Amino acid sequence: MPPKFKAPRGTRDQLPADMATWRALEDNARRLAGLYGYRPIETPIFEDSKVFERGIGEVTDIVEKELFRVRSPGSEEDRWALRPEPTAGICRAYVEHGMHTLPQPVKLTTWGPMFRYDRPQAGRYRQFWQFDVEAIGDAGPAIDAEIIELAYRYLREAGVMDVELHLNSIGDGTCRPAFIAALVEHMSRFAAELPELDRHRLEANPLRVLDTKNPRTLELLAGAPRIADYLCDPCREHWDGLLAHLDALGVPVTPAPMLVRGLDYYTRTAFEFYQRGAQGQQSALGGGGRYDGLIELFGAKPTPGIGFGLGIDRIALLVSETRDSALASAHPVAIVVGADPAATAARLKLATELRAAGVAASADLAQRTLSRQLERAAREGAHFAVVVGDELEQGEVQLRDLDAGTQRLTKVADLSRELLRAHGSHRHG
Ligand code: HAM
Repeated sequence: MPPKFKAPRGTRDQLPADMATWRALEDNARRLAGLYGYRPIETPIFEDSKVFERGIGEVTDIVEKELFRVRSPGSEEDRWALRPEPTAGICRAYVEHGMHTLPQPVKLTTWGPMFRYDRPQAGRYRQFWQFDVEAIGDAGPAIDAEIIELAYRYLREAGVMDVELHLNSIGDGTCRPAFIAALVEHMSRFAAELPELDRHRLEANPLRVLDTKNPRTLELLAGAPRIADYLCDPCREHWDGLLAHLDALGVPVTPAPMLVRGLDYYTRTAFEFYQRGAQGQQSALGGGGRYDGLIELFGAKPTPGIGFGLGIDRIALLVSETRDSALASAHPVAIVVGADPAATAARLKLATELRAAGVAASADLAQRTLSRQLERAAREGAHFAVVVGDELEQGEVQLRDLDAGTQRLTKVADLSRELLRAHGSHRHG
């Protein structure tokens, strides 16, 4: 019979076999962020919809089409929305908790699920995970380079070979309007040839046209003005400074003059990461940039910021599925089995004592024969079986090495020490 219920479209279950890679990615995210001085923050999975509408921008795919809106019981209005990304919520929290009084920049990091009502396909889900890092309160460009190098290092340590950093400057409130006017003037000449979506974007949020996937629009854009030619002096200085810092850190740059990103809050620095040879929106492994106007939108004084979000689902798809160290810790070191199927209390007590001493142990609590218990212990990947029998009355058990097939009588009092030592040499030997 086919199953009656399935995980919702665009979501998936992470089964224990998937979790080894996942945990390794999460552990390294927390470790690296800590090493660079970014401190953990958790914000709610849902926020007032306005946080996203105002922060990310009304005329963006994320807000127009992809927001999971939530209606509270008894209300006529979708007041809340599941977070499609964490930056807006983190900036809301920065303002709400008066973090401007802390030493600046405030360096924050988070890890967790995000929600976008997108058309599901390979590497694109409706619930997906991001490793996010934000530095709020430093105008850069050195901090831009620090953040970018952190993301670059994370991807390489995760095992993504040939990481490509696509980098652009999209100017600021001083210089961008002139560029947008020139872009609109150029593209409006071809308005009749543009597909409906791009025509809408040209009117409502012209910069988004650069993000098009339509082949005809792309052709027309080839002759369009370039933002690089419009940067004001401070934006150009910032760009040059960023390139110099990245060069000093040894991070190779692929200039991407058309890169604009899908969120409205960006100013100056905008970047995305790809595996070499795999370009296009869907394959971005992560992206980020500077958002010097965002904090102000939440009612605080102007405060610069920069950050990135890395797409963990896409990274996990790319990296090897067997990561030895994570796998090793996922299996119990020992399973407590016994000759008397009914003696579950003795097995459970012994496993509990081993765990209290720091040994990853479990007890076979199903009432089956010893040979079936041993079979299962081997299938679980345990290195040892602790066999409880009559010797327990003398304070002893049989310790069986399941890999070597050997067995010896061991004092219960020495058991945890023996197991920890033997497990250590198993792993390293
Ligand atoms: P974003 O480019 O919208 O930026 O998302 C960052 C990354 O999340 C993408 O590059 C991609 O790897 C992953 N991602 C996005 N949508 C999906 C999806 N539907 N399925 C799977 N993975 C996905 C942001 O979210 C910004 N908050 C980044 C940032 C932080 N900017 C400044 N600070």
